[in-house]
Amino acid sequence: MKSDRAPINFTVNGALMSVTAAPMRRLSSVLRDDLRLTGTKVGCDAGDCGACTVLMDGEPVCACLLPMASVEGTSIRTVEGLGNGSLSALQASFLAHGAAQCGICTPALLVTASALLERIAQPSEQQVQDALGGVLCRCTGYRKIVEAVMGAWRWNDDSAAPHPPAGSLSPPAGGREMVATLTLPSPRLWGEGKGDGQFALPPSGAAVGNSPVRLDGIPKVTGAELFGGDSFPAVALSVLVVRSPHHRASFSFGDLGAYIADNAGVAAVFTARDIPGINSFGVIPPFADQPALAEGETRFRGEAVALVACEGWVARDLDMAAFPVTWRELPAMLEPPGAQAEGAALVHANRPDNLLVRGLVERGEPENALAQAACVVSGSMQTSYVEHAYIEPEAGYAFLDDDTLTIVACTQAPHMDRDDTARILGLAPDKVRIMPTATGGGFGSKIDISLQPLIGLVALKTGRAAALAYTRQESMASTTKRHPASMRATIGTDADGMISGMVFDGTFNTGAYASFGPTVANRVPVHASGPYATPNYRAVARAIHTNGPVSGAFRGFGVPQATLMQETLYDELADTLGIDRLQFRLKNALRNGSETVTGQRLEAGVGIGECLEVLASRWTRALSEADAFNATNSTTKRGVGIASCWYGCGNTSLPNPSTIKLGISPDGKVVLHQGAVDIGQGSNTVIAQIAADALGLPLGDFVLKGADTSITPDAGKTSASRQTYVSGKAAEKAARALRDTVLRYANVSNEASLQLLQGGFLVVHEGGERRRIDLTKLEADKDGLVFAAEESYDPPTAPLDAKGQGKPYAVYGYGAQIAELEVDLALGTVRLVKITAAHDVGKAINPLLAEGQIEGGIAQGIGMALMEEYIPGRTENLHDYLIPTIGDVPPIETILVEVPDPEGPFGAKGLGEHVLIPTAPAILNAIRHATGVAMTRVPATPSRVLSAIQEARR
Ligand code: FES
Repeated sequence: MKSDRAPINFTVNGALMSVTAAPMRRLSSVLRDDLRLTGTKVGCDAGDCGACTVLMDGEPVCACLLPMASVEGTSIRTVEGLGNGSLSALQASFLAHGAAQCGICTPALLVTASALLERIAQPSEQQVQDALGGVLCRCTGYRKIVEAVMGAWRWNDDSAAPHPPAGSLSPPAGGREMVATLTLPSPRLWGEGKGDGQFALPPSGAAVGNSPVRLDGIPKVTGAELFGGDSFPAVALSVLVVRSPHHRASFSFGDLGAYIADNAGVAAVFTARDIPGINSFGVIPPFADQPALAEGETRFRGEAVALVACEGWVARDLDMAAFPVTWRELPAMLEPPGAQAEGAALVHANRPDNLLVRGLVERGEPENALAQAACVVSGSMQTSYVEHAYIEPEAGYAFLDDDTLTIVACTQAPHMDRDDTARILGLAPDKVRIMPTATGGGFGSKIDISLQPLIGLVALKTGRAAALAYTRQESMASTTKRHPASMRATIGTDADGMISGMVFDGTFNTGAYASFGPTVANRVPVHASGPYATPNYRAVARAIHTNGPVSGAFRGFGVPQATLMQETLYDELADTLGIDRLQFRLKNALRNGSETVTGQRLEAGVGIGECLEVLASRWTRALSEADAFNATNSTTKRGVGIASCWYGCGNTSLPNPSTIKLGISPDGKVVLHQGAVDIGQGSNTVIAQIAADALGLPLGDFVLKGADTSITPDAGKTSASRQTYVSGKAAEKAARALRDTVLRYANVSNEASLQLLQGGFLVVHEGGERRRIDLTKLEADKDGLVFAAEESYDPPTAPLDAKGQGKPYAVYGYGAQIAELEVDLALGTVRLVKITAAHDVGKAINPLLAEGQIEGGIAQGIGMALMEEYIPGRTENLHDYLIPTIGDVPPIETILVEVPDPEGPFGAKGLGEHVLIPTAPAILNAIRHATGVAMTRVPATPSRVLSAIQEARR
């Protein structure tokens, strides 16, 4: 071991380094903080997620586990060293296959895979899975990663010498900017190349329906992408957060002044008393109830009570246990039954019975219908807290730019962040600027603010930049979760197997604060019928406060839980009636002209029937293969399950407009102000594709301005599967308006075509005529645009009445999935064999990105079905809380069904949340098919499956 603080010599990406660092300091910290090689990410600091993987002497290692003393004399390779100034074949293959979504895991996967490829140029799928098993990805479902690694050899073409990537992303200097020009090694990805080595983007009019690679993709594969924790100013104060160790506690502070004086490098301490504005926030303003820093009592474990602002060199070693706070643990209620018991303490004094919101949808006479039904089944279902487990913990920094507080952080909802932060800090909204960094996964949780008001408070009070990156533990303990649900339902049919009535009752543990609890309570009753005609219906969902973690938005807002209840009962009904399970669903599926349980008549675009029909042949094949397997196996049984989904895109009966601006610059570019945050789902690319075809200019002419509350109009939050539909529609309208403006200026008809030329010329072609407009001679607006248009779109919904009748959504998406699996009857283990997914997307704007969404959603559905269960205080890390690894996701066959919705842009519907919904119920139905046992609790862990099997045998 080297002595303390002696220089440590090693090479990084071929360059000799001599670094003076404490021997026990971790390599990840030195790479990121000292050498500014931020392509190496830190997702857990414990070797669980693998995001920090680098190559040491050619072997993958977790840099967060490596003390600097062990680095002496070694050769380290990071993602920045893979391409040697250009894209490597593997990086190009990742882009081509859509293997990077948010991109936070991508550097680690790339370096790990590159080590494999140096040993085996064309690895098998199993070899890829074995090699990459230590790196977690929460977005992609891994399938495209496997394909990218297996196909990388195709990009090894010496004749196509490395080309410098032209599509680079500037640091956030005001609206992150991307140019839609991509230069890659051959082979070309789309159509014919424009020039040697130049990747051809679709020509004018052909963007929608094709799969150009992500316009923001290159920085994700080079390691240049800047996430929340990648650009902290060196001079920033580090912010540490004091959090409650108890589910509920009162607390008092000791002598904070003495604490500051006794700890060199500690600049200040802040508590709730220092908050200048209103100390509460919440995504739904009437329910804003969560303090940025708790006052007097904490309501859940992990709640923040104080901030320590210190110099960076102190932060690493500061003993937070010495912070002067005294806790008095109080009795806590973690489950709704306790919180609803007579005389239970109130989590919030103004919410009797700990009831946050009760949602209801009622139609017809459900009790009568069930009483007269030919076939009736009833059941219950319980689900657990599910953690979002994005690989990027919350991170960002704040600074004062004159009198404007500027926050550079990962997020899903910049304008909501701005308004909540301004309210807490007593500032006018226009004195807060949110500049989103790249976001390393969100899935709903990064809609709520987290660190924004905390770093904002420190910056405001000290006048210095303030930076904070949550540890994995504090991210898991303090941020929102999927609502645990306890549900019961009864469903009945007539003698022909037509659904006649249903009642559903669900209690959702919304935890200590409101967050999206009201949304879940209102969305669930609308969806609990599934995409089936249900003439008599009552569904009640209530969000109940406890002292558990705050439950919020998580891909589906309660609908995945409710679908588990309904779809498992559908299997029981079909079996009882003796009808094939797919045919039973098809028989009852909503069609154009059907009325939903809210009385909404669906005029067009209902694609659930098409999804089920396209699965029919696969279903028959899977069933017969299962029969053949089971005939020759006694200890392992194969099962096949099916489940459907529907999901309303956008807010439930609430306004959720998006505004998009675009224009033409004097140098002849189309500048798209695109404020819909791309958290990996692809809105940067998809919305540009929509705008390009609506405008009539090629995607290659586009420059994107990423979200920034001072520059881009409000495109709403990235949630509720709304960005392709709602922001896409706004982009379509704005692009058509821009086209009209240009055509009017040129005094030509709508039939004319447009062309931009280098040097700042716009050419308008009509008939054989050609008119050239010199853009450099025109006056530009404040955004530097000579022609511009800005348009908004808000889905045309209508409020629900007291019985939940009305038009909650303007557009719905539909889907169905088949799960094939094997259950070991002696162990209770489940091995997934295949998942087949058919999703009606209306119009696949970018089929490759749509497939990526489906595969990623399925992986999260697998986690919910089989392994994920967050227990506060026990699973606040990624070794006790399990998410699917590359070996847990089976082959996935995706079928994109296109039943256009006239309301959507080019007929498109949302997709992001739909894709997770059918997976878990299809898996549970397959377990039942394999074993005869109906699981009524998820996750269906091996011990739960085994005890259910044993119970059934008694
Ligand atoms: Fe892998 Fe987001 S792309 S975690």
